[in-house]
Amino acid sequence: MTVRLVVIGAGGFARETLDVIDALEDATPGSFHVLGVLDDDPSPHAVGILALRGVVVLGSVQDLFEGHLTEPFDAYVIAIGDPRVRAGIADRIPQTTQPAAALIHPQAILGTGTICESGVVICAGAVVSANVIIGPHTHVNPNATIGHDAVLGRAVSVNPAAVVSGAVDVGAEVLLGAASVVLQGLTIGAGAVVGASACVTRDVPAGKVVMGVPAR
Ligand SMILES: CC(C)(COP(=O)(O)OP(=O)(O)OC[C@H]1O[C@@H](n2cnc3c(N)ncnc32)[C@H](O)[C@@H]1OP(=O)(O)O)[C@@H](O)C(=O)NCCC(=O)NCCS
Repeated sequence: MTVRLVVIGAGGFARETLDVIDALEDATPGSFHVLGVLDDDPSPHAVGILALRGVVVLGSVQDLFEGHLTEPFDAYVIAIGDPRVRAGIADRIPQTTQPAAALIHPQAILGTGTICESGVVICAGAVVSANVIIGPHTHVNPNATIGHDAVLGRAVSVNPAAVVSGAVDVGAEVLLGAASVVLQGLTIGAGAVVGASACVTRDVPAGKVVMGVPAR
């Protein structure tokens, strides 16, 4: 069955997500059909660049919240890079709405026993080791690496080339900056932000922004 998909967001990560969907469709023709994107205020640039790849703006996110989408669809994905914005949208989507799709690029590697919950997007080149749990609406960007037994909460963003070592516990809505490293066994509290290129050597409290080497 072809999954008719609605993509939430019209920005850069939406286009990265469309690339994941295109790769899945190339690998298994007929698996996905993108109906279009939803965005409350898409820029003319975003609309134009999406049109170039044949993707239309179907309406606003509000339309989804209120059940006003006219086209029937089977699943949605929230393709917005900011973890808090993503979580806020997920919170407002009615329970009765169609499920969120988990989209895993065919060139990502997933270890044995790893669980990806609904709404997960995993980009090309990501390597996720064994027995990892990736929470709903979490994004793993290109070339990021997640070690064995790590647990990523809801709506986490693991930015490109970040390294999450084994048995790390990452709370909901955390942003791990590009090329950051979190050493093994640590806990990153909910809503924390780890700056690009940081090396985290101690637990990070919830909501804290840390950067640098060692991260402070
Ligand atoms: C850490 C971060 C969240 C801070 O954002 P911010 O609060 O807006 O910080 P600012 O840009 O105002 O910079 C504040 C100070 O921190 C420094 N700084 C910013 N990011 C830094 C980083 N990653 N590492 C070290 N220092 C950093 C700035 O140089 C500035 O220093 P100064 O006060 O001496 O001039 C952000 O810079 C970051 O790294 N985000 C992740 C970005 C990422 O992953 N991008 C890839 C997207 S795909």
